[in-house]
Amino acid sequence: MNKAFIVIIALCFLYACHNTTFVQGKRYYTDLCASCHMEDGTGLVALIPSLQNSEYLKNEQAKLPCIIRKGIPDTSFVAMPAYKDLTAYEIANIINYINSSFGNNIGPQTINQIEARLTACD
Ligand code: HEC
Repeated sequence: MNKAFIVIIALCFLYACHNTTFVQGKRYYTDLCASCHMEDGTGLVALIPSLQNSEYLKNEQAKLPCIIRKGIPDTSFVAMPAYKDLTAYEIANIINYINSSFGNNIGPQTINQIEARLTACD
């Protein structure tokens, strides 16, 4: 087999392929969530909760898939929207991006965990 080919495959495993989940999570967060929670997770004073160094994220991991899929009804001034069309995989990437950003250092959720949690909130 061609050496260059092997190097490309190796690089793919070491870098690109491994990183696509993080890259997708970041892109979705930027497109869907940052308008409210801000690019750096600070939120907006009393209206939008901060996701930085978040106790909520640390303690409520099991609730996150349902929050993203179902939203949070308008309990205050602003409602958290529902993202009904995101797949379990996309939701996993968003959660795992947040879990490892904004000062959070929370381990990743697996796709199996996300799927089980989504089934429980349907
Ligand atoms: C239209 C603004 C808006 C957008 C867009 C939005 N959220 Fe929210 N989010 C909110 C509001 C408001 C709350 C608080 C709702 C409440 O508790 O009454 C919230 C709550 C949360 C919480 C709970 C945090 C806590 O401390 O209570 C998480 C986690 C969260 N959002 C994640 C996300 C993610 C991930 C996305 C993108 C997929 C997103 N949000 C998009 C407005 C938004």
